[in-house]
Amino acid sequence: MKLWIIGAYGIVSTTSMVGAKAIEKDLIEKLGLVSELPYFKKIQDYAPFKFEFDGHDIRPLTNAYEAAKEHWELNRHYDGAILENLRDELERIVAKKGTALNCGTGIKNIGRIETLEDEGLTLREIVDKIESDIKKFADDETVVINLASTEPLPRYNREYHDSVEGFERMIDEDKKDYASASMLYAYVALKNKIPYANFTPSVGSSLPALKKLALENGVPHAGNDGKTGETVIKTTLAPLFVYRNLQVVGWMSYNILGDYDGKVLSALDNKESKVLSKDRVLEKILGYNPYSITEIQYFPSLVDNKTAFDFIHFKGFLGKLMKFYFIWDAVDAIVAAPLVLDIARFLLFAKKKKMKGVIKELSFFFKSPMDCETINTHEQFEMLKRWFQLNA
Ligand SMILES: NC(=O)c1ccc[n+]([C@@H]2O[C@H](COP(=O)([O-])OP(=O)(O)OC[C@H]3O[C@@H](n4cnc5c(N)ncnc54)[C@H](O)[C@@H]3O)[C@@H](O)[C@H]2O)c1
Repeated sequence: MKLWIIGAYGIVSTTSMVGAKAIEKDLIEKLGLVSELPYFKKIQDYAPFKFEFDGHDIRPLTNAYEAAKEHWELNRHYDGAILENLRDELERIVAKKGTALNCGTGIKNIGRIETLEDEGLTLREIVDKIESDIKKFADDETVVINLASTEPLPRYNREYHDSVEGFERMIDEDKKDYASASMLYAYVALKNKIPYANFTPSVGSSLPALKKLALENGVPHAGNDGKTGETVIKTTLAPLFVYRNLQVVGWMSYNILGDYDGKVLSALDNKESKVLSKDRVLEKILGYNPYSITEIQYFPSLVDNKTAFDFIHFKGFLGKLMKFYFIWDAVDAIVAAPLVLDIARFLLFAKKKKMKGVIKELSFFFKSPMDCETINTHEQFEMLKRWFQLNA
């Protein structure tokens, strides 16, 4: 299958590329891939494990090898011999110039960027260019996934965001203030009937207009914000307090991370979308809102080795207050990259089964699943298995 990645030169993207190609060459085990669990064996019939990559980015690098090498130099997150073995394949992946429209102040922290809007293009011209790039690559077995830096919350406008006609009018009237990069990429994918996933907290395909477009065009899509680290632990652990009738009175989550993601999230406007996405999960699981602190801070020397400290204050029998602490210490891209490949395979499966609109059963993979109130990881996993087994 083919995977078009928005943010192709990022660490999650290049780690997905390296992992996929290394598996194809039998250099590594398939650890971390949910789609390779025995429950999903039949996925082979719909989306065999073979990937071709391309995408958009806004950093002017020469190719995906250069990008992967830069991330590897900083993180050493896998055996460097694997990267050298895949050099030729990665050098052939050259991202096309994208748009960073309304991507916030944090985007300036990632160094030199080049965008379509810098060339003075109108919204219509930007959309047309993105569309022609994707169409040159895409076939019937293609999925688009957003792995670009997190955008700030969009400037919501009913006139332009609630209907497909309104959205297209926004493009034609060049109302740049109301558009953001992630919605434009999502629009192009759905317009061209290509399944789309949003692995970031950015708005992507979650605008009412784009949800309608997906239904009209019969395209499956999913998002938002990959559930990979601290939040997956939180949403796996929080149900325990429900099952045992323990009252959570306070939950503090303090995350520190470096790398480009950390640099972008150090800007307040970009950080707001991420914090909201992480913070909403507790209330949905517990049914009430305990006192909560959710913080993300930039910590350069950690690079991609994101560390999360969680402190939970809970009340039990006889009103006794007790404490639980955990520390999550993982390489963000290593936990995220296999899920990117999983999501792509499940979305291609959904397309082949003629499913359209938001695929809620993929909520297992997301922090803020679209149109789905099930946040409990155990229930989400059961939903995913049931959905697949009923349809495969
Ligand atoms: N575990 C995880 O790593 C994890 C979990 C959930 C969500 N995410 C989200 O996934 C995204 C990628 O994370 P990462 O660690 O790979 O970040 P990264 O900074 O390494 O990569 C982002 C890439 O996107 C590019 N980019 C930025 N804005 C763009 C735009 N508008 N169009 C095209 N390209 C653009 C950047 O140049 C960069 O190459 C972030 O939004 C992050 O919040 C990551």
